[in-house]
Amino acid sequence: MRIKEETITLKDGRELTLRSAEEKDAQTMLDYIVKTAEETHFLVRYPEEISPDIEREKRIINDSLEAEASAWFTVFDGDKAVGNCSISRHRNHIKLKHRCDFAIALEQAYCGCGLGTILMTKAIDKAKELGFEQIELGVYADNKKGIALY
Ligand SMILES: CC(C)(COP(=O)(O)OP(=O)(O)OC[C@H]1O[C@@H](n2cnc3c(N)ncnc32)[C@H](O)[C@@H]1OP(=O)(O)O)[C@@H](O)C(=O)NCCC(=O)NCCS
Repeated sequence: MRIKEETITLKDGRELTLRSAEEKDAQTMLDYIVKTAEETHFLVRYPEEISPDIEREKRIINDSLEAEASAWFTVFDGDKAVGNCSISRHRNHIKLKHRCDFAIALEQAYCGCGLGTILMTKAIDKAKELGFEQIELGVYADNKKGIALY
C-alpha cells in the first residue's frame, strides 16, 4: 500500500522525507539494501546475496505498493533512500491473518537520532489500522540498538 508523504525531523535537526518507494527509486533502494547489509551483521542477508537485478527490484516495489496488507515506510535524504521499515502479512491462512512481520534497517549515518523510533511507531499504528493483532520480528542477541528500540 501507498503511505502518505511527509517530512520528518531527526533529533539532530536533519530533515528527511518519508514516503513510499516508487519504481523510479529502484536503484537507490538496491544501493541502500547493499549498504545496510555491508555496515552491520544484524540483517539477514550478506551483501553478495542481494540481487542487483533492477527489473526485479521494480517488481518488488510495485508489489508492495499494490499489496493491501503490507506497508513500507521508506526514508529519503533528497533522492537517496537511507532507511526502510515494513510490515507485511505473515501468511494468508485465515488462522494466521492476525499476524504480521516487521523489519527495519537504517544506514548507520542515520542511526541513533530517533528515526527508528519514528518509523516503528508509524508501523505499529498502521498494523493496528490494518487489523493485525500481533507483530513479529527477529533480532540478534548482540543488536543493542535494535533491542533498545523494540
Ligand atoms: C536498530 C535501528 C532500527 C534502531 O534505530 P535508531 O534510529 O538507531 O534508534 P533510535 O535513535 O530511535 O533509538 C531507539 C532506542 O535505542 C537507544 N539506543 C540508541 N543507540 C543505542 C546504543 N548504541 N546502545 C543501546 N541503546 C541505544 C535509544 O536511546 C532509544 O531508546 P530510548 O527511546 O529509551 O531513548 C537502527 O539502529 C538500524 O537500522 N540498525 C542497523 C540495522 C538493524 O540492526 N536493523 C534491525 C535488525 S533486527
